[in-house]
Amino acid sequence: MKSLTPVITIDGPCGVGKSVLSKQIAKKLHWFVLDSGIFYRTFALIALKYDIPMLEHELLKIFSLDLYYWCMEDQYNLIKLYKKNVPNIISEKTISYVSSKIAIFPKVRKELLTTQRIFKKKPGLIANGRDMGTVVFPKANLKLFLDGNLIVRAQRRFCELRKKGIQVNFNSLKLEMYQRDIQDIKRSISPLIPAKDAIMIDSTNMSFEEVFNISLKYIKINKILLSPI
Ligand code: DC
Repeated sequence: MKSLTPVITIDGPCGVGKSVLSKQIAKKLHWFVLDSGIFYRTFALIALKYDIPMLEHELLKIFSLDLYYWCMEDQYNLIKLYKKNVPNIISEKTISYVSSKIAIFPKVRKELLTTQRIFKKKPGLIANGRDMGTVVFPKANLKLFLDGNLIVRAQRRFCELRKKGIQVNFNSLKLEMYQRDIQDIKRSISPLIPAKDAIMIDSTNMSFEEVFNISLKYIKINKILLSPI
């Protein structure tokens, strides 16, 4: 049976535009949004900042509890905390790398399951990540898997960084993205794979507007909303 509070999941590789798409859909529907990568990034941030071995079970519990309270108080606190700290302490590139390494550990993923599910609130939730449709919200009302050619994704990311004034080498950026995808795809627990009932969207030759509109079309077709959009 589908759950009463509707959930739409958007999974896919890095740099494919899941976060922006989730935010825009959530804005349109006035729903909540969960950007699950933020949890792994925050774990990475804490581990790097305090030089903590990530497999310490007790520490993981404390972290997860902390994250839980941050979410209960205000779900955007976590994102604020992350954004405030990253530019000053550790580069985004290092965090991305370490977060994908940390995401391999079953203990980390187990601790985060409950925390992520708290975000499911009425009127509905758009959740994005790698395992939203397969593990965290397996009964989601609609599952989208957003994919795209690596070179195109890297080009988009490259332009974004340039606009922010961050200088990067295109080939090393592409390589980093490739390595992170491989790591996320090949891990044994909650790998990056489409759920069996996911709808595949290949964004390679599509503008953001096209991806957004096609996603709304699937939401309408699946009759997820009570009122028309
Ligand atoms: O979505 P992101 O780029 O912020 O995610 C950073 C890393 O966190 C990603 O490379 C793998 C991990 N991650 C995960 O394993 N499962 C998720 N649902 C979200 C992120």
